[in-house]
Order: sequence, then C-alpha cells, then structure tokens
Amino acid sequence: MSVDHEKQRAARAAADLVERGMRVGLGTGSTVAFLLVELARRRVSATYVATSPHTARAAREHGIEVDSFASLDRLDLAIDGADQVAPDGWLIKGAGGALTREKIVAASADRFVVIVDASKMVAALSAPVPLELSRFGLVATLRRLGATELRDAPPSPDGGVLADHFALVTDPAALSARLSDVPGVVAHGLFSPSLVDEVIVGRGDECQRLRLGGTP
Ligand code: 5RP
Repeated sequence: MSVDHEKQRAARAAADLVERGMRVGLGTGSTVAFLLVELARRRVSATYVATSPHTARAAREHGIEVDSFASLDRLDLAIDGADQVAPDGWLIKGAGGALTREKIVAASADRFVVIVDASKMVAALSAPVPLELSRFGLVATLRRLGATELRDAPPSPDGGVLADHFALVTDPAALSARLSDVPGVVAHGLFSPSLVDEVIVGRGDECQRLRLGGTP
C-alpha cells in the first residue's frame, strides 16, 4: 500500500472530526494536503486558521476560507502531520519549517490530532530536531546550541531563521527543556505528548488510532 494512500486514510478519518461551527487549525505538509481535499469534499462550515501561508493558499484553492489567527483565543481542534512519532507520544515536527506556528496552533486547540502514515511511527526519536531561531544574535545562539546546521531556506513567515539540531534525542523531555532554555530559540520541533490528544496512523487500508494525554 502506498504512503500517499496511508496519508489519505488518516486525513479522511481526521476530516470526519470537523463539525459545523468549530474553530479548526490546519497544519502544514503533504498529509495536510490530503486533509484539505477531504474537508473540501465534506463542505463543513467551520472557521479555519492555517499554520503556514502555503496551507492558507492551498485551502483557498480548494474553496476553504481561511481566517487570521490574530483574534481567536482558542481553537476546538487542530490537525497536523508529523515527521516522527514515538511510542510514548513525543513528536518531531517542522521538516516543512512551519514549527512555530504549528506549535502555537496545537497548544491553542482543545484537541490536537496528528495524522501520519505508518512510516512516521518510530521506536525512538532521532535527529534532526528542527529549530526556528531569532536572527538577532544568531551566531551566539548557534555557539550555545552546538550541533546545529542552518537550512538553505527562506526565513519563516515570522522572520525566523530555520535550522536543524543534531543532538541525540535519547531523552526528549530533557532536550526539549534545554532547547527552550536557549533565548535565541524561537521554537523547536519537539512536541510533548501533553499537547497531543490523538495520533491517527494510516496503515495499509486501515486507520489505527492512538489516544494520548492531550492538552492539560
Ligand atoms: C511541517 C511539519 C509537517 O507536519 C511534517 O513535516 C510532516 O509533513 P508531511 O505530512 O509532508 O510528511 O511539521 O513543518
């Protein structure tokens, strides 16, 4: 079964969670692209916000109206992909460079649902961990971080510099705390299980649903 088929299965299951009148955060990436197709097909009237200009553009191309996230204080649901999902629910996200907005949207949602194909399920997380860094003091921040490579990529929509951190991810909680403690780090791609309510995994023709702790 193809990876795209599994992404589409997970996306369809997540689209079924969207109900009329909900405020919904849309993630970024190729799995979310399938979600947009499913949402366009279902035509549920909801308020959508996007985690990237790319997703906002793609949603509008599908006839889905996207609002600004400047004036909403919370979301009912957010749906996004991931690069890696560990058995305990820790995620690595941000290969697409949208990690800061993705984390803000996930943390603002009553329910955060992750959609992945089976290849994203790993026994243990491994480097790299995507980073968004402040341009101010960049060289000093890189020295404090160590083991970090800047991406050859345009800045984030908020002007941040995208990079990848290559430390061992043996203890995601400890690494998350260390990265959060470096002042020039705007956001990092480790997402704690406390943010995640459910992971929907497309596996062959089936969907496997892993329910986690969710937002405290
Ligand atoms: C973008 C992300 C994506 O959700 C992650 O990279 C997964 O992407 P895809 O669905 O294309 O595999 O975090 O910043």
